[in-house]
Amino acid sequence: MNTNRLSEKMAKALNDQMTKEAHAAQIYLSYATWADDQGYDGIANFLYRHANEERNHMMKFLEYIQERGARAHITAIPAPDSDPTNVNDCFEKVFKQEVANTEAIYKVVELSFEQKDWATWNFMQWFVKEQAEEETLAMNLLDKIKIAGGANAKDSVLYSLDRDLGNTPDDAKLAQDATTDNP
Ligand SMILES: [Fe+2]
Ligand SMILES: [Fe+2]
Repeated sequence: MNTNRLSEKMAKALNDQMTKEAHAAQIYLSYATWADDQGYDGIANFLYRHANEERNHMMKFLEYIQERGARAHITAIPAPDSDPTNVNDCFEKVFKQEVANTEAIYKVVELSFEQKDWATWNFMQWFVKEQAEEETLAMNLLDKIKIAGGANAKDSVLYSLDRDLGNTPDDAKLAQDATTDNP
């Protein structure tokens, strides 16, 4: 008896998105090591925590695929992009990454709608909301750096921005506090 409740196409779309979330985690990790290396500990800390958030998203997809009776396939993850050239570039890359991910999420939502797969449609709504929050977070970071002078931001301003990001709690929780249900 076939107990798989996902169509082949849907299982593949969800699996691809699961891999994209793992890829996002790798991207954030690589930016974090760059920021750390540049001496921006606060920014690095923020990015490390965000990497963990992306990994939790990956797990959320994995669990859903398995729970619906299909099999999650763990594949290779593409290498992350090149290093940011400065803090402004770093935050621009973060924003672009989140927008690209939102678009990928929307495609899965669209497919669930086409297939009248309401369980998946419902599952995906969490990600729709999450992406809107993450885009806002990235926009706020870009606003901050813009005020600080963008690509030409002075070291003294970057110093306080780094300190603020390290001290101020943001949407991303500490790695050890995040769970799959509450990343
Ligand atoms: Fe994500
Ligand atoms: Fe994200």
